[in-house]
Amino acid sequence: MLITMDAHLLFPCLMMLLAMCMDYHCADANEDQGNQLRGLWRLSMKDPKQKGVPPPHPIRGLVKQQLLYCRVGIGYHLQVLSNGTVGGVHEPTEHSLLKVFAMKRGVVGIRGIKTGLYICMSQEGIAHGAVQFSSDCLFKESLEENHYTTFSSLSHPGIYLALSHKGEAKRGTSVGRLQPCTHFLPRRAP
Ligand SMILES: *[C@@H]1O[C@H](CO)[C@@H](O)[C@H](O)[C@H]1NC(C)=O
Repeated sequence: MLITMDAHLLFPCLMMLLAMCMDYHCADANEDQGNQLRGLWRLSMKDPKQKGVPPPHPIRGLVKQQLLYCRVGIGYHLQVLSNGTVGGVHEPTEHSLLKVFAMKRGVVGIRGIKTGLYICMSQEGIAHGAVQFSSDCLFKESLEENHYTTFSSLSHPGIYLALSHKGEAKRGTSVGRLQPCTHFLPRRAP
């Protein structure tokens, strides 16, 4: 299903898509071009509070699932449970299998494979799983100097995805990118 789009919007979108394809080796480009364009188009709209963004499209099409290991405490794998609880588990479970997909350069969404829930961040810094994808579910992915990755909320700058020493979700407002609780390592799923 194609959306109606002004011709002057369509062209920059196509150019963006082409650039992204080159970066990501065009994994799913043909099948899902329409959906990718729709996602990009919505993203390019300037209202960050906008809800009900359509389900996003994986650009990293080759990686079906992965783990996100957080180096805090004894080490935990990020997970999202069916009741929407986001936390960590030391030994990976089916709830720690995640799909990390690029929405645009440096911006990703994270979805639990088992539950289909998107990991999202509230303005208060509470991470939770949501059925519907929204701008709260967009994370800026940054590779830190120590080679760990941090995920900070795109719509709420300065709020980080983090786990506590006990492996529970840590409030993202009170942490920073220099703390181990925000340091994640993408790992291949077993
Ligand atoms: C979600 O489920 C987990 C595991 O079943 C449970 O420990 C937790 O209390 C639940 N959280 C809520 C908010 O219901």
